[in-house]
Amino acid sequence: MNKNNLAVIVGGTGAIGESIANEISKIGFSDILKIGTKTTPSIDFNNENTILDAIEFVKKKNKPISIFFDATGILHENNVMPEKSLKKIEFEFVKKNFIINAIGPVLLIKHFAPLLDKDEKSVFASLSAKVGSISDNGYGGWYSYRASKAALNQFIKTASIEMKVKNKNAIFVALHPGTVRSNLSEPFQKTNLKIQNPEETAKHLVKIINSIDQSQTGKFFNWDGSEIAW
Ligand SMILES: NC(=O)c1ccc[n+]([C@@H]2O[C@H](COP(=O)([O-])OP(=O)(O)OC[C@H]3O[C@@H](n4cnc5c(N)ncnc54)[C@H](OP(=O)(O)O)[C@@H]3O)[C@@H](O)[C@H]2O)c1
Repeated sequence: MNKNNLAVIVGGTGAIGESIANEISKIGFSDILKIGTKTTPSIDFNNENTILDAIEFVKKKNKPISIFFDATGILHENNVMPEKSLKKIEFEFVKKNFIINAIGPVLLIKHFAPLLDKDEKSVFASLSAKVGSISDNGYGGWYSYRASKAALNQFIKTASIEMKVKNKNAIFVALHPGTVRSNLSEPFQKTNLKIQNPEETAKHLVKIINSIDQSQTGKFFNWDGSEIAW
């Protein structure tokens, strides 16, 4: 990876996103753009124009992107918790999960993939979740979150196939960060789970980004580097 290029982190003001930015700086990148819903430029998935404005900002930097990291996502909001049963499913909450966990990220791929470095390795990574794996679903529940992350996974896999033709140096991966201390996971931090600090998981995830090669595009990785079945 050309470390003189740009690294962009969307969700860069979230718990994991902030730590990813710090870790990317430790591996030698100096031009790191952290984008949140309240930064300048900002990205809010409820408004595609915010992505277009951010693209214009990035284009003015006149250099390609070597790492694009999508650290956005929601699990619960305003005391609405993930659905444990079908009777809890509500249109607005399903819609919100799909907009933030799947539609927003695929719009990021649509608009930012053309700016990935074509001469040397570049990586587009998106934070998914192991519960989005259909083959791993042994417990049920969390309908909207699971389904929206499964949709995100399919978007990444599908984009990786198209991009093999358009940019042979670009790698597209979905990443599971583990259970990480943040507002998102706060209501679900059971004591029997291994909970990592954002700094720890960021170290692991950036190591994956740094070490993967083109043969691993279109894959879903756990924070420890093992592969998760779709
Ligand atoms: N924490 C865990 O245990 C865990 C486990 C598995 C997967 N993950 C995944 O990891 C990712 C990051 O989670 P986190 O724990 O770091 O949570 P977090 O601190 O709540 O970060 C969430 C990020 O999403 C952004 N976001 C929310 N709504 C948005 C919208 N409408 N448009 C654009 N961005 C929006 C937030 O932006 P602002 O900063 O501007 O609010 C924030 O940066 C998520 O995809 C989550 O599903 C986390």
